[in-house]
Amino acid sequence: MSGDAERGQLKIDWARAHMPVLEGVRRRFESEQPFRGLTLSLVLHVEAKTAALALALRAGGAHVHVAAGNPLSTDDDAVAALRALGVDVRAKKGESTAEYRRDIEAMLAADPDVIVDDGADLVALALTQRGERGKIRGSTEETTTGVTRLRAMEREGRLLFPAIAVNDADMKHLMDNRYGTGQSVIEGLLTATNLLVAGKVAVVAGYGWCGKGVARRLAGLGAEVIVTEIDPVRAIEARLDGFRVRPMREAVREADLLVTVTGNTQVVRAEHFEQLKDGCVLANAGHFDVEISRSDLERLAVAHRTVRPHVEAYRFSDGRTAYLIGEGRLVNLATGQGHPVEIMDLSFALQALCAEHIARHGRSMPPKVYPVPPEIDRAVARSALPAFGAAIDEPTDLQRKYALSWQEGT
Ligand code: ADE
Repeated sequence: MSGDAERGQLKIDWARAHMPVLEGVRRRFESEQPFRGLTLSLVLHVEAKTAALALALRAGGAHVHVAAGNPLSTDDDAVAALRALGVDVRAKKGESTAEYRRDIEAMLAADPDVIVDDGADLVALALTQRGERGKIRGSTEETTTGVTRLRAMEREGRLLFPAIAVNDADMKHLMDNRYGTGQSVIEGLLTATNLLVAGKVAVVAGYGWCGKGVARRLAGLGAEVIVTEIDPVRAIEARLDGFRVRPMREAVREADLLVTVTGNTQVVRAEHFEQLKDGCVLANAGHFDVEISRSDLERLAVAHRTVRPHVEAYRFSDGRTAYLIGEGRLVNLATGQGHPVEIMDLSFALQALCAEHIARHGRSMPPKVYPVPPEIDRAVARSALPAFGAAIDEPTDLQRKYALSWQEGT
């Protein structure tokens, strides 16, 4: 084994030791072989926790192929370890966009029965390149952006197979988006900059589940948080959670740190760079690198240089400087290690169980976007209770009947 592969194997071992829910699923897969003879193509952020998922699916009998969900999110050690274990992995940290696309194309060329996607790039490719379902039984989708894209494909009548919106499960977005993104964005920011958060003004663009997590964690470290929103309901929610809510053009004048997490495009653009506080650190935590306009930054800057690994300084003509982390790609994976292990245990247990659901039932499911079956969501929650040090009560017979009578409206 190479040094990279050995390091990767240690990272995978560490992850697996802290992923009891996925480990339980893997053990069942090993005996039941739900994927026997099936090909699974995974387009995910390739790191140690993802390797644990790939190995669980392989233990269930699948031929597994893996490509990166983003050119900067790959952990090369995990890739080397997976390759040493005989898994087909196409990913390299810092690969070009062309290489990234070619790797995703290889996932389709592998002729999958089931797709496991993060951002819906592989599903989008399958629809445009193939135009027919072929042997694809369906897909599972990890992230908010991917689910939004799938719903658009469904509305346009282009979806050719069922897709399960894993992101929308309670055990996904309430935990991964909020607590996972909350912590991993901080990790990415601190690793890249080594700067203090306390006493800074931090602007969080977007108050969805991920934005809520990021705002709360920044506040917890002592930042004064300003939220920007385009949705009035979320804006009020942020206000009642204790944050200032201002338009971006105002917020940028005070921002020491600015994190975008909207899922939208051009959230920070020329008009904002013109007003940006000197020395502001800019980071994106949304799926695509379109939230902070790099082209506007490049156009407005008179000088540009790399000042730390994955930190670029852009100097404007009036002497102000903006620091962009990780090329504006998702900061928690570009300069952090992704979500904490225990969080990805939940998300990837859901992915594994939804992939199994597609393998078993996908052929009879019309091409639509489906919620995660509630029994899967609850099974993951139940199985996670001990790991999170939580224990719950069983309802008495009377309580069961009482709850039922309300449900039935009697
Ligand atoms: N690690 C693997 N997939 C991830 C994701 N979607 N978000 C954060 N960390 C991850």
